[in-house]
Amino acid sequence: MTTDKVAAHYTHGSLMDAILTKLDEAGVSLDGLSALDLAPLDHLHGRGREATDEMIDRLAPRAGQHVVDIGCGVGGPARYLAAMTGARVSGVDLTPEFIAVAAELAERTGLSEMTEFHVGDALNLPFDDAAFDAGFTQNVSMSVPDKARFFAEAARVLKSGACFVAGEVAQGPGGDVIYPVPWAMTAEISHLTTPEETAEILDAAGFRVEGIHDSTDKALAYNQASRARVKEQGPPVLSPLVILRENGLERMRNSARNIEQGRAIPVEFVCIRS
Ligand SMILES: C[S@@+](CC[C@H](N)C(=O)[O-])C[C@H]1O[C@@H](n2cnc3c(N)ncnc32)[C@H](O)[C@@H]1O
Repeated sequence: MTTDKVAAHYTHGSLMDAILTKLDEAGVSLDGLSALDLAPLDHLHGRGREATDEMIDRLAPRAGQHVVDIGCGVGGPARYLAAMTGARVSGVDLTPEFIAVAAELAERTGLSEMTEFHVGDALNLPFDDAAFDAGFTQNVSMSVPDKARFFAEAARVLKSGACFVAGEVAQGPGGDVIYPVPWAMTAEISHLTTPEETAEILDAAGFRVEGIHDSTDKALAYNQASRARVKEQGPPVLSPLVILRENGLERMRNSARNIEQGRAIPVEFVCIRS
């Protein structure tokens, strides 16, 4: 099954220990650990926290609102959004190890009352209809062959009029993506659509697409600045490489190359649930 392969792809095996080891190496104290301390490693998408900040600005959740994060990974963006805005966040992810780590990090950052994390498939969300005031998903849909069902499920759990921000890596005009990439070692579990195709799918799923933001230029600038920093200061101790494990550096470099060569487009859709 595709979902088993995707979960296997993301499973680390000893992720919590690896994160604690890196925090220790970086001199980050576990006393008073915050979502911000973890941000260099737990936002698993291009441009990390910078992209999450933009997503939060576009989503604009209010304190006390209930937000869903579909494909929440280890919960970095969910904890960060809760800490920054006072909204409550429910995250769901296919990979059981990620959910266990997300819950432990919520505990360690004092955010377990503001966030909750569930193992589940985005195609069959474990939530009632119209349960949420707002929702987001970041770099998940590339792993999903049935995007119509993926976005229809998102629409189902959102209230009418709710904002939904969906970020993904889309197929670009420059040719097939070079593998391995962070979300897949080969094309077998990678399902990219063009921004135009995704917008049509969102529309058919019950969303009004209000904005399509292509962040190619920002990604190029971010990647260039990261490379310059590594050249000057060496590789950072805290980075998503802790989580990516096997050939992580090659996968991140391919991501950058794919964007440079127009094979991949980082894009975010800002939508309203009809
Ligand atoms: C690149 S990570 C992004 C994690 C998180 N959104 C973030 O930006 O930090 C992709 C995540 O999507 C999850 N995922 C992929 N397919 C899924 C599905 N069908 N249902 C739920 N989660 C899924 C994976 O387990 C993985 O944690």
